Order: sequence, then C-alpha cells, then structure tokens
Amino acid sequence: MNKRLLLACLCLVLSTASLAVKPKQAAIASAHYLATDAGHEILAKGGNAFDAAVAVSAVLSVVEPQSSGLGGGGFYLLHRANDGKQVMVDAREEAPAKAHRDMYLDKNGEVVRDWLLNGPKAAGIPGLPAGMVHLSKQYGKLPLAQSLAPAIRIAEQGFPAYPRYVEAIQRKIDVIRRYPASQKAFLINGRVPEVGEIIQRPDLAKTLRALAKKGRDGFYSGTVARKLVKASQKAGGIWTRADLKNYRVKERPPIYTTYRGKTLVTAPPPSSGGIALATMLNILSAWDLTEMAKTDPAKRVHLTVEAMRRAYRDRSVYLGDPDFVDIPVKRLVHPYYADGLRASIHDDKAMPSDLLPGLKQVPQGNHTTHFSIIDTEGNLVSATLTVNTSLASGFVAKGTGVLFNNEMDDFSAKPGEPNAYGLIGGEANAIQPGKRPLSSMTPTFVMGEDEVAVIGTPGGSRIITMVLLGILDFFDGHDPASWVSLPRYHHQYLPDAIYLEPNALNPGLVKQLEQRGHRIVRMSHPWGFMNAAWWSRQNGQTKAASDPRWTTGKGEVR
Ligand code: GLY
Repeated sequence: MNKRLLLACLCLVLSTASLAVKPKQAAIASAHYLATDAGHEILAKGGNAFDAAVAVSAVLSVVEPQSSGLGGGGFYLLHRANDGKQVMVDAREEAPAKAHRDMYLDKNGEVVRDWLLNGPKAAGIPGLPAGMVHLSKQYGKLPLAQSLAPAIRIAEQGFPAYPRYVEAIQRKIDVIRRYPASQKAFLINGRVPEVGEIIQRPDLAKTLRALAKKGRDGFYSGTVARKLVKASQKAGGIWTRADLKNYRVKERPPIYTTYRGKTLVTAPPPSSGGIALATMLNILSAWDLTEMAKTDPAKRVHLTVEAMRRAYRDRSVYLGDPDFVDIPVKRLVHPYYADGLRASIHDDKAMPSDLLPGLKQVPQGNHTTHFSIIDTEGNLVSATLTVNTSLASGFVAKGTGVLFNNEMDDFSAKPGEPNAYGLIGGEANAIQPGKRPLSSMTPTFVMGEDEVAVIGTPGGSRIITMVLLGILDFFDGHDPASWVSLPRYHHQYLPDAIYLEPNALNPGLVKQLEQRGHRIVRMSHPWGFMNAAWWSRQNGQTKAASDPRWTTGKGEVR
C-alpha cells in the first residue's frame, strides 16, 4: 500500500472513530431556567432530545408568553442520530380560510396597523400544539403527557415574575385592558405584576391537560377549539372550527450549504433564514474572514454587510410560502449565483440599496424564542418558536389561557409596505387563505466531522444576521459563549443603513465604514437572545451558552 493511501485509510479510520464519540452530557440552552430544567427532567426520565424539546416548548409557553406559546408557532430543525435523518418540522401559523389579501386595508387602501398587530384578527391558525404532538409521536420515546407534565405543573403552581415578563406586560397594557380574559391571564387584581410575584395560569394548565390527554384533538377540535373560535369571532376575528381542524404541521427538507468544509443544515421556506444564510455564506466564502478580522476588521464588516444587503434584497423579492409560490431555491443557494452577487461588491465602497433592483422598505422587534438541545445519543434540536411581536396580539381566548399570535403581520399586508420589523415583502408573501407567512426564524446546525454547532435566536428581521455572525465566530474558532455574546451589527437592504448594538464596533472602525459610504445607526438597545450548543465529536465534550444580554444566571444553560 502506498503511503498516501495508507494515510487516507488512517484518516478515515480516525474520522469514523471520532464520529463514534457521543456527547458525554446532554446540553440545553433556552430562554428560561424552568424550561431548561424541564428538558433535563425529561431526559432523566428516559426521553430523548425530541421529548425534551416538547417539554421545553411547553414550559416556555407558560413562563415566556411574550415570546412563544400554544397560540403561536415555530420551526423545529431535527437531527436524529440513529439514522441521520434531518428535517424541519414546520409548525408555522397559517392564514385562516376567510383571510384575504386586503383584509388589513381601510377604505382608503391604507394598512390599519392595529388590526394587523392587536386582537384576534391579527392571528394565524396556531401550529405549536400540533408541532409538539408531532415531535412526540414521530420522534420521541415518552408519552406526550409525560413531556407536557412539567409545563402543567408550572402553570398550576406558578412561577416568579421576572423583569422581561413584567416589562412585556407593561408595554402591551393598553391592548390587554381591552380583553377581560387577557387581563385575567396577565394582570393581578387589574394591575401589572411585580417582579417576584407568583404567576399561575390555571386556564392554560387546563388547555395543556387537554392536549396531554387527547393529543391534537385536545386543541384543534372539541372544547378548546370551540372556545378559541367563539372568543375569536366575538371579538372580531375570523377563525372557524374548520381552520383549526384542518391545520397540519409539514415536514420539510432543510436547506443545505457548505462553508469552509462544514455542512450547514438550516431552515427552508416558509422561513427566509436558510436561503439568506446560504447566500451570505456563499458570497463570503471568497475571502478569509478569520485572517481579515486581524488585518482589516473594517473590511470584514463592510463585506459582511454587503452580503447581508444582497441576501435581504432577495428575501423581499422571491420568498414566501413554498406551497403557494415558486421559489428559485436552487438558484438562490447556488455558489455561481453568489459569484454574480459578489461581483458587484467593491472593497472600498458601499453599494446603495436603491441601485439593487428590488422593493422599498425599515427595522426590527425582539420577540420569539430559541432553544438548542444535544442529547447523549447525538440527537439535535434547534428550535425557534414565536407568537411574533412581544405578547403578540394581546388577545387571550376566554377559558383557554391561549394568547393569540399576531403572525399575520409577517405577511405583506400591502406588498411594498414595511411590517413591524421594517421588512418589505412582495407578491410572493401576500396574504392568501391557508398560506404561511414568511419568517426570518433560522434554526441551524453546523455539522463538521470534528464538531457540531446548534444555533439560533429570536430578533425579528435581525435573526438571520445574528445567526450569520454567530456562525462566522464559530468558524473563527470561538466557543458558544462567544457566539452568543459578541456585539451585533445588521443590514437588511432597506432601510439602507448598518444598525449597531450600543457596544458594537469601535469609533475608528465606524469611521472607516462611513468613509466607504455606509450610513450608521447606533441603536440604544441590544437585540437577540441567542441560545446555542456545541458538541466535540472528537472527545464527546458538550457546551451550551445563553445570551448574556438576558441570561439571569439561574440555569438557562445546563
Ligand atoms: N415572527 C417573526 C418571524 O417569524 O420571523
């Protein structure tokens, strides 16, 4: 055997052996310590990462209603260790059958923001309950009732109010006061709870119990469904029993791309995240960004911003629900396509967004939740769940504890007009009955032979750029604590500006960007709540990290 072949065989043996090193410990990072605890409780009872994901999701729906819940939806990206199956469970909300493209326009053809954002008319048909049932049934090892038990217990016994929760209620108080069931769910004797007060959610516990007992029928038909529809219609909503009955989760093949020798597995449409991430990484693959961070950090930021600009332009033009619109996915994620986009990037000049053919549009929002799980078998879950903006529509259906999402705002209510995140959508994302609104949620795995990253975050339109920056940091050789904490910058094509977190980029670097023609907007608040996990396939070590912007240190990460 010649030396080269021998070396190749040796590498193969070593890499195969290295793949055999399973995680020595499970790792979970979520937005709330009670959710992370629940995930570990379920793993300790013999559940796998998918059962744990059900437990984490259900607890978050109780303790973090400002971000996700039974009345919302989400995406679960899964990797099953025993057969390598990778899939995205699309539990995104869906437009009701009575929805139509002009339903949020007044008689003058202007968008009525209140209808889009507040009250039951703002809500799509929820997907989260069906998503949890599907995960449990198709991928879990434990009965659904067991995985939901921690959430039921917490909803009944209560949890202490914490600053983010209280602030969310304060911000939404005017809408909450419109609806008696919302007041019952979120206020104590008619006032905003104080930090540390115990919050019990008996109606929500009853709904979770129905789900535990009857599976999807516990939510999508029977008593709960009747109450949801009755409450919606009484308050001006358009849900019907048939809408709920017809809702189904969809399994979708992920978007795959490669970057620096590793495979990225990420969210397909109706998320825009995976395609945009692939486009940005393909554009950036022409440069050694790790080296550039040392030699010319301003150029690295400039090139990254130019990649963001181009990917977000494509988002606004091409993307929507793939069951309703033809999306040129192959083209958009192809390296040749990125070569074309890269050709218009100058090292020393920003490209004004108006010069890219596209649509017009503004930024942001910081709600939604993300968690990452690695179990000791090597199963992975990267899940981003949402009710859309903070505390969503503010509307709770009487007797159910279910807070309705306001995901209809993720459609383009009027093509060409910005939504709550300043994102513009085109015809591809116009409202149609049964259609799922375009999302930015980007649950992702980075899979190498030597290591695996599980990453994602909330943050509205900024989700995709946060995930990009986290992944670039991973490729710079840093660990999860660094991915989740690094200062963030963002460009979304329109408005044509680089948005900076308060502590992002030093003044010298900002000046160099301005000299290239970039407009800089320094924001007063940080954004995102990234929860990530990592596994060394070489030695089985795992790490998880939760965004220090919001972590309380009480155990969001274990
Ligand atoms: N509701 C935020 C998103 O799905 O992107």
